[in-house]
Amino acid sequence: MMMNEDLSYLISAEFYDLMSEQHWLRRQEDFVRILQTHKPYAKRVVDVGCGSGKSLPLLQKLYPEVHIHAVEPSGAMRIALMTRVLGEAALRHCVSIYPSTFEYLKIDQPVDIILLSGCVGFFTPQERVRFWAKASSLLAPEGIIVVDTMAISSPLCVAQQQVANTRLGTQRYEISMSGAPVDGTDLMRWRMQFDQYEGEDLIRSHTVLRDWHTFGLDRVISEAAEADLYAAAQENNSVPTLVLKRGSASH
Ligand SMILES: C[S@@+](CC[C@H](N)C(=O)[O-])C[C@H]1O[C@@H](n2cnc3c(N)ncnc32)[C@H](O)[C@@H]1O
Repeated sequence: MMMNEDLSYLISAEFYDLMSEQHWLRRQEDFVRILQTHKPYAKRVVDVGCGSGKSLPLLQKLYPEVHIHAVEPSGAMRIALMTRVLGEAALRHCVSIYPSTFEYLKIDQPVDIILLSGCVGFFTPQERVRFWAKASSLLAPEGIIVVDTMAISSPLCVAQQQVANTRLGTQRYEISMSGAPVDGTDLMRWRMQFDQYEGEDLIRSHTVLRDWHTFGLDRVISEAAEADLYAAAQENNSVPTLVLKRGSASH
């Protein structure tokens, strides 16, 4: 049975940084290079679906004068986000936290970078139409949108694989994921398993199911074009990533 979104994040938010640690280590270099190449200077950044704020220290270091608008609807994720922001003096000065989905975001000055990381597949097709329109309207003339998708571009069965096996104190956390298509849709249902061990004893075990609209960068390009956005660069590395700009490619 699918869980209500808030309830599912109440369980998974605690484990999010453990689960995404390797993912962020692997992608960090590419992420920084893409930003440096396409936006060497930025004053205003919006991070949509900011999660626990893994991107924030990287953004702040790249752009020391930046103001970052961190949009995160899940209260559980925001606890981690707030803890990260409070723990770093540099972030306290430059991060504003918006406790909502992107639709409610109001910014009256043009934005240099809109980041949508690990998020686009959670949006329904209607939400994506609203997102591209909103992002296009917020963007400064030379601004960029950086969006990533999963490395899987159509639904398929993915056998259970471990994504984290991390020791903390005397304990160990094992996190694994498996996925399967949801019949007749573009959705994959991901099953995330969170197990906590004391020595060999399993002391806690949680399962969270979450659906993701599974498509590749081509679909992103065609949908974003409807909002006057074009693909200025495409990277097919471990995290397929697109840089979008306003206007058409001939500009
Ligand atoms: C997998 S996490 C990614 C977190 C972070 N961007 C990262 O890459 O580590 C996806 C996040 O998107 C958020 N999210 C889902 N729907 C959203 C929406 N409509 N507007 C803004 N954020 C949303 C979720 O609450 C969750 O924190």
